[in-house]
Amino acid sequence: MARVFSGIKPTGSVHLGNLLGALRNWVAMQDEADAVYCVVDLHALTVPHDPDELRAATRSLAQVLFAVGLDPDRSTVFVQGHLTEHAECAWIMECTASFGELRRMTQFKDKSDGADFVSGGLFTYPALQAADILLYDTDQVPVGEDQRQHIELARDIAVRFNGRYGETFVVPEAVIPPAGARVMDLQHPENKMSKSDDGAAGTILLLDDPAAIDRKFKRAVTDSETEVRYDPAGKPGVSNLLSILGAATGRSPAEAAVGIERYGDLKAATAEAVIEVLRPVQERYHELAADPAETDRLLAVGADKARAVASATLDRVRTNLGLLPRT
Ligand code: TYM
Repeated sequence: MARVFSGIKPTGSVHLGNLLGALRNWVAMQDEADAVYCVVDLHALTVPHDPDELRAATRSLAQVLFAVGLDPDRSTVFVQGHLTEHAECAWIMECTASFGELRRMTQFKDKSDGADFVSGGLFTYPALQAADILLYDTDQVPVGEDQRQHIELARDIAVRFNGRYGETFVVPEAVIPPAGARVMDLQHPENKMSKSDDGAAGTILLLDDPAAIDRKFKRAVTDSETEVRYDPAGKPGVSNLLSILGAATGRSPAEAAVGIERYGDLKAATAEAVIEVLRPVQERYHELAADPAETDRLLAVGADKARAVASATLDRVRTNLGLLPRT
């Protein structure tokens, strides 16, 4: 059975891009594969954060993952920082990646550009991500389009390590959905929808109520034409709405356009489809949020299952690297 691994950061609030680009695939893949999913709290430390908010966001994100349909009996769901193996393996990944490779990462360039404080961890972030993936002998990594470069780096690290020290790591591949892989901001359709624009009119949060969703779609930026047509380069706003409508209703963007004549109708149809997708997720989330102790119990079970795999891989890595065995 194939091994699937992916992760999500507990910074900001989960949004529609996370759901359509990644989480829906995570849920689908837990039936076909041995699936391991992780809330990557250590990655959240790469930017300034508030400790109380991080603690709350980590648990709340785990509840969102269960609410979207991850089943703790069918997949392993855990918090990265509950295992010491990830940080230990990350050091080894840093020593395997080159400075030039890390410097070429576009996410680092985007996040460091103009920031007051750029941590060393922000620079080595993709090495920790490679550790996450490679510790689980991962075959497939379901992610949105923006993570493609990081997965490529994890592949390159695995191949280099295997070449230098003998077969150690499985070389993973990214799995990117045909629709919804890059959901754009509703106000700035040239930018991807993102968590950092918390509360902004261009981001649909998973826990937004129907009125807020309706309002955000009504105000979505389109263009000065009137034709509903899928053309991402020429009509980014309209095309983003069609992509969302298609992804929410299981169709391609072009199919979603059939029968819609006016921008107002497109916005209303997209809002309605998204509200329907989110309704059951929100109901389950509120049930789970009422019982934090149960969430923590599920995460402890997940951490034990994850540790069994990760520690075996790390033993193999240490041996092949020539680290003196611990007795
Ligand atoms: P993160 O937390 O930013 O995003 C989680 C997942 O959501 C996808 N995504 C999107 N998909 C479509 N449209 C968007 N606008 C959009 N925004 C985000 C992301 O592609 C991602 O799949 N570095 C990762 C977390 C990570 C990870 C890993 C992922 C850490 N270790 C190991 C895979 C494997 C991140 O910051 O994702």
